[in-house]
Amino acid sequence: MVAPGYSHIWDCCCDHGFLGSNLLSQQAAKNIHFVDIVPELILKVEEKLQQFHSNSLSTWKTHCLDVAKIPFEQYEGKQLIIIAGVGGDLMSRMISDIHQRYPDINADFLLCPVHRQFGLRQKLIEYNFSLKDEILIEDKKRFYEMMLVSTSITSSEEPLINSVGDKIWRSNNAVQSGIVETYLNNTINYYRRIQQADNEINVDQIISAYEAVIL
Ligand SMILES: C[S@@+](CC[C@H](N)C(=O)[O-])C[C@H]1O[C@@H](n2cnc3c(N)ncnc32)[C@H](O)[C@@H]1O
Repeated sequence: MVAPGYSHIWDCCCDHGFLGSNLLSQQAAKNIHFVDIVPELILKVEEKLQQFHSNSLSTWKTHCLDVAKIPFEQYEGKQLIIIAGVGGDLMSRMISDIHQRYPDINADFLLCPVHRQFGLRQKLIEYNFSLKDEILIEDKKRFYEMMLVSTSITSSEEPLINSVGDKIWRSNNAVQSGIVETYLNNTINYYRRIQQADNEINVDQIISAYEAVIL
């Protein structure tokens, strides 16, 4: 889902930096940035990059930083901000912080949250982000919704972001059909568990929205 043409790609919450290293090997953009808030992790990523990517044709840079504090204004050109592997609530907060600091930023976000996708999608809708693509994949019995969204609307043809997703529920083969069905059941059960465990959080509307999905 990473198309060519970005000047800067940000592997936010990079952890061991596997995703960014992969993008570096593919020369996916002129500049690849690795961002994590934990100093020890960023030190290790820096060491590995020195070891394996010192002659890379793309430029790379590590940043020990809170994603909310990335100084995007210092970098020119089209940016792709990738955030993967953190919870939907934390991801929503990161995007809110970025949106508040840079209300006019022209960037794409590639997002892969762990749980709580509904709240994240609502936040993206609130900020008028447009949807470029969304897919559902299964890897080692875990399911991942990946959303490529943009702060700018480039075409009136672009679909709107749906609170529960749209294209992710469509399948054109038996394998994907099974993935979609299992993921929908898992998601409804996840929110039902929250409903039973915590009376403070009202998830009735979320459950109804997922129950209304037609496969
Ligand atoms: C589970 S790892 C995700 C790794 C990788 N992105 C993936 O999808 O597999 C989560 C990482 O997010 C980092 N992290 C959490 N909050 C952060 C923040 N506010 N800013 C930067 N990094 C953060 C953690 O230090 C950790 O390395």
